[in-house]
Amino acid sequence: MTSQGPAHGGNLSDEARRLGCDPRRLLDVSASLVPFRPPSVMRRALAAAIDGSALRDYPDRGQADLREAIAQHHGVDAESVLPGNGAAELFTWAARDAAAVGVSLLPTPGFSDYVRSLKCWDGALLPLPLPLSWGDVWPQFFPETALSGHGSDCLWITNPHNPTGQLWDLKSLTRLLPRYALVICDEAFLPLVPGGEAQSMIPLLQDYPNLVVIRSLTKLFAVAGLRLGYAVASSQRLQRWAAWRDPWAVNGLALAAGVAVMRDRSGLQRWTQRVHDWVQHELPWLRAQLDDLPGLQSYPSSANYLLVEAKHSLMALREGVARRGVLLRDCRSFEGLGECWLRIGLQTRANNRRIIHALRQELDHQPLV
Ligand SMILES: Cc1ncc(COP(=O)(O)O)c(C=O)c1O
Repeated sequence: MTSQGPAHGGNLSDEARRLGCDPRRLLDVSASLVPFRPPSVMRRALAAAIDGSALRDYPDRGQADLREAIAQHHGVDAESVLPGNGAAELFTWAARDAAAVGVSLLPTPGFSDYVRSLKCWDGALLPLPLPLSWGDVWPQFFPETALSGHGSDCLWITNPHNPTGQLWDLKSLTRLLPRYALVICDEAFLPLVPGGEAQSMIPLLQDYPNLVVIRSLTKLFAVAGLRLGYAVASSQRLQRWAAWRDPWAVNGLALAAGVAVMRDRSGLQRWTQRVHDWVQHELPWLRAQLDDLPGLQSYPSSANYLLVEAKHSLMALREGVARRGVLLRDCRSFEGLGECWLRIGLQTRANNRRIIHALRQELDHQPLV
């Protein structure tokens, strides 16, 4: 935690310690994970891996089976895929390339892990301020201001954007590719967005060796503790990254779990549909409920999280709601947002009701207006 608030959501054990309660009593909506148990095919694979030799043996350093399964899913070569210990590990290597090409342009407010990664390599960066108002029709054009490059060499894109939830239009992203030596597109939440895959930059990789796409499996399958993500990029680039990293970056359980879900093509399709149905159902409901609360305004989102804003600081409200057992994302670490903003990760209907109930009770206690 810094004076700017925590850099990430999902600090469940820290928060439980601070609040003096059992973490199981808390509903953590500060991280944005699918609210279902991981698919049964994954749970079975994990049980079999534990029963087998996955705990004893060193994991496959080349990650051949997982690379192949992911490659088939996206219709690319296995050499163009590199699994990682979550997307976060792969940002570290992407940032090493970014620092080598020059200055990075970071849309702000944005995900702070890109800054952490760039700092590892003394990478220079410039903010690209995003307008803090947007509509509710998806996809949206990436800001024209990025076309000028602002004297930068590498552009970092998050699609859908975090924390705003904006889904960027693929055509508007494509025209940026010739303008930068390197474009890093974080599609961590894209598979969760209904219709999101149509905006993926992965099909452009064959024409643009200056493009890197990074994905996460921790949100889609609710396995943030397992750590699993992957990069899709040119094989030369990924070979370089593989030579830089720790020898066994992806553990044996994560490999087994990843292979099971990525190979099960029809299961993956059903899972994704279930996730999209949930987002389509719950997002409008939650927004309507939030907008009914006095003093709070919700923002449109295409994804499984959304921002709320008030005219005054929301820090006391956040604390009061935390004491009622619901952890909302403090947005002070997002440049350009600050104390008047909170981010909420979408939950099941029962838990979305719990969020609204906690907010309503706290607002009765300490009105914002
Ligand atoms: C936009 C974005 N990308 C990537 C990540 C990290 O994903 P992983 O858990 O796979 O490291 C996060 C985590 O919050 C995120 O918000």
